[in-house]
Amino acid sequence: PKAQPLAGVKLMLTAGPTREALDPVRYISNHSSGKMGFALAAAARALGAEVTLVSGPVHLATPASVHRIDVESAQNMFDTVMAGIAEQNIFIACAAVADYSPKMVASHKIKKTHADNMVVELAKNPDIVATVAALPQKPFTIGFAAETQEVEKYALDKLTRKNLDMIAANDVSSSDRGFNSDQNALTLFWPGGQHRLPLADKTALAEQLLTLIAKRYHDIH
Ligand code: C5P
Repeated sequence: PKAQPLAGVKLMLTAGPTREALDPVRYISNHSSGKMGFALAAAARALGAEVTLVSGPVHLATPASVHRIDVESAQNMFDTVMAGIAEQNIFIACAAVADYSPKMVASHKIKKTHADNMVVELAKNPDIVATVAALPQKPFTIGFAAETQEVEKYALDKLTRKNLDMIAANDVSSSDRGFNSDQNALTLFWPGGQHRLPLADKTALAEQLLTLIAKRYHDIH
């Protein structure tokens, strides 16, 4: 049998997009497929972790023996994560959370008018991973940074600013990786180190990433 470096470890992940309602039939969202987060959940389970997967709306099957909680909006995801975070040892934020959501959600379908322009006011959503990393009893916290330029600079900035233990940076400027693709390439950064994981299937990449996370987690615990 495979070595189980995460046996007895409780691990929570966020995955997929969020949906921010405008009215009962419309929303703002993004192209995240959830594939990377679901692959990470399966890999964490294979390494022995007790896994809770907080997922936005995706078309993916739940990995075996993973506890999945479905959410819609960034606020739902935030509330669900915060309700369960106290008992977690590791938190991985893989979701593509909407940064803003409509300030007012219309209770009825918004009607078309004669005006050529419409203004929708947006309000900032809570930053889930930064809130988790600011907890006094914070779990070992890993974030993702999807960038189209200066990947390392922005990833390191995010690592420090959000008080993360590790950050997985990916370049989403080419269509052969990231977001909707089955493949991805990542560079993992932590205070004082980095490791490059070249282009691979998200399943293989998730296994490598979780192995590195488990190693670093044990190094500092
Ligand atoms: O700042 P940025 O959104 O680029 O950071 C990305 C990282 O932060 C990802 O790990 C993402 O899951 C997380 N995030 C979050 N809550 C937000 C926005 C981003 O947890 N509201």
